[in-house]
Amino acid sequence: MIKRILLCAIACITFTTAMADEGMWLPSLIKERIKVMRKKGFRLKADDVYSDRKASLKDAVMQFGGGCTGEFVSAEGLLLTNHHCGYASIQKLSSVEHDYLTDGYWAKSRAEELHVPGLTISILERMEDVTDRIAAGESKESIIEQAKQGKGCRASIESMYYGNQHYLFVYRVYNDVRLVGAPPSSIGKFGGDTDNWIWPRHTGDFSMFRVYADANNEPADYSTDNIPYRPKRYFPISTKGVEEGDFTMIYGFPGNTQEYVTADAVEYVAEISNPMKIALRTIRLDIISEAQSKDVATRIAYAAKHANIANAWKKWEGESLGLERLGTADKKRAYEKNFAAWAADKPQYTTLIDSMHAAYKKAIPGYFARELFNETIAGIEVYNFAAWLVAQHSKGEKLTADVQVIGRQYYLKDYRAQIDKTIATHMIAEFIKRMPVENIPQELTAAIENYGGVESFVENLYNQTQLITKYPLTTEEILNDPMVQFATWFVPQVNKNREYAYRNLSNVPTIEKWYKEYMQALREWDKERAFYPDANFTLRVAYGTICGYENADGEYHTHLTTLDGIMAKDNPEIYDYNIPQVLRDIHAEKDYGRWGIEKNGKQTIPVCFLANNHTSGGNSGSPVINGKGELVGINFDRTWRSTMSDIEFDPSICRNISVDIRYVLFVIDRIGDASYLFNEMDLK
Ligand code: ARG
Ligand code: ASP
Repeated sequence: MIKRILLCAIACITFTTAMADEGMWLPSLIKERIKVMRKKGFRLKADDVYSDRKASLKDAVMQFGGGCTGEFVSAEGLLLTNHHCGYASIQKLSSVEHDYLTDGYWAKSRAEELHVPGLTISILERMEDVTDRIAAGESKESIIEQAKQGKGCRASIESMYYGNQHYLFVYRVYNDVRLVGAPPSSIGKFGGDTDNWIWPRHTGDFSMFRVYADANNEPADYSTDNIPYRPKRYFPISTKGVEEGDFTMIYGFPGNTQEYVTADAVEYVAEISNPMKIALRTIRLDIISEAQSKDVATRIAYAAKHANIANAWKKWEGESLGLERLGTADKKRAYEKNFAAWAADKPQYTTLIDSMHAAYKKAIPGYFARELFNETIAGIEVYNFAAWLVAQHSKGEKLTADVQVIGRQYYLKDYRAQIDKTIATHMIAEFIKRMPVENIPQELTAAIENYGGVESFVENLYNQTQLITKYPLTTEEILNDPMVQFATWFVPQVNKNREYAYRNLSNVPTIEKWYKEYMQALREWDKERAFYPDANFTLRVAYGTICGYENADGEYHTHLTTLDGIMAKDNPEIYDYNIPQVLRDIHAEKDYGRWGIEKNGKQTIPVCFLANNHTSGGNSGSPVINGKGELVGINFDRTWRSTMSDIEFDPSICRNISVDIRYVLFVIDRIGDASYLFNEMDLK
């Protein structure tokens, strides 16, 4: 008996400490977590993290572009984010003569900072629980209208816990953002797709920008009259480094998690969706890689496309393996069974699990069709150009030469028709093989039959279309073009896809409505569980500690990598591992100056570290903050075995990967020769 009590005590302790590091918390409610955070080593107070009355850390954090995070590191609008978050901007400013992606860029003065057209950053002014106001009958539109005051204001209402709560978020959006500096890709993207999602990691994944404002510190369109934005708060930077066991906090904008979904959703992701998407992307990646290996120009042209396709592909593989390893679906089924037993005598919940099950059954075919379409037909580059032309035309837009230029620049950028054609052949065949007949356009079936097979159909399509070869085209030529015809066959599918265009399957309205009740019921039933709302691109706090993990039986991965690991990977023959010569020289001379640390009795430079903060896509670029509120790193990735954390977070294995701020400073100083920037930063 005593033994049983003891066992339970141990299990309970493991359970609660384990729970403690899981979660992405709403900053305005952080007072509910602050005790746990302080126990782990946080020294600040809840209203230092978030306040809408005084300056707090939230004023130093921003949403960078559409899907990343960034943080201010000076009183004059200087900000840090990831290299992969700045990648598109750096590419936009690059040309053959000025290849900033390859060579890096460092402004030597403010005058040399480069405006990035189209790049915006959003700073959260305040958030407010408006659940009661909505329940009292106020419309979301009017709440948003009232909230939007001041230049560049953006407001939105986001639902939490599947519509059980509603929060208003009010942002200031700044659109004069300038590139200050970026390391060469051989540092910022070191390891490329090979090392992506992998530990040990050695990527200097950072870039620097500056936000400009008008004389009143308000958002203003780009102008040479603008002056650096003065944030209410910015992060001091710790040069002291991190040790295993240190407290860390991540403050950023995670995009999409689904921690409360039922077993049906997990099974869909792990057994249907991910395997389908992985198989299709493997085909596309093989075709692209093969072409890249034969020609340097093609390798460069398809670098970003390859990286994008490969990023999610690799994540899904890790996610499916992780879900299987954890037995997530089975655990969820058991959990639901217990829940149903509890709900049996509660009329409002008795049939809930059955209703959800039925709702999934009904929605899955449509959602699957959308995903399959996106991974096959929508993976054909010139199809997207054709579909865009069709959409423009049906909106009543004139298909002028100028309009065509816009489309070509977007859809046929760095384009190789031969690659696209090979992809099209495979993707159309896969579409037909995998799609239920009723979703296959009859015109497609007829055309393939007519040409005697997919291959000759595609051959003909690419031979006949003028979209790739001729510019400008007359409206008539466009409308009669076989590729445009091909695109029109899929218009019904594209329209149907809109019904399923939500963050994930569980957010499709016919399913989501049941989750509202389910979440409410779970909170009544599962009193021990610490509930936090799923990620939805709103600002969150995650906390944890610096730590390694056991990657495999007997194989422990330590928390810190160093320059010596970069040197071990360095190889001029391999594109992803070919570091700049200056880095080799610095290493050869052990000329580390103030940036050197001692590891195993030798001088080296710290590069990346691990922690067990709960992060997701969108957290890239997030500040990694120590117990004193100082910046110690920039978050950029997770380990491969962690990627199921969007569905089940396992504290024993889930780790986020950050670039050590000391490596960032070293690169600014010794590779970028831009240490003048330190004058405006607060280095501790
Ligand atoms: N895996 C990281 C995140 O999901 C980094 C992606 C960028 N790097 C790359 N090699 N593709 O987005
Ligand atoms: N690399 C991701 C991002 O770009 C972060 C993650 O998924 O862990 O946001």
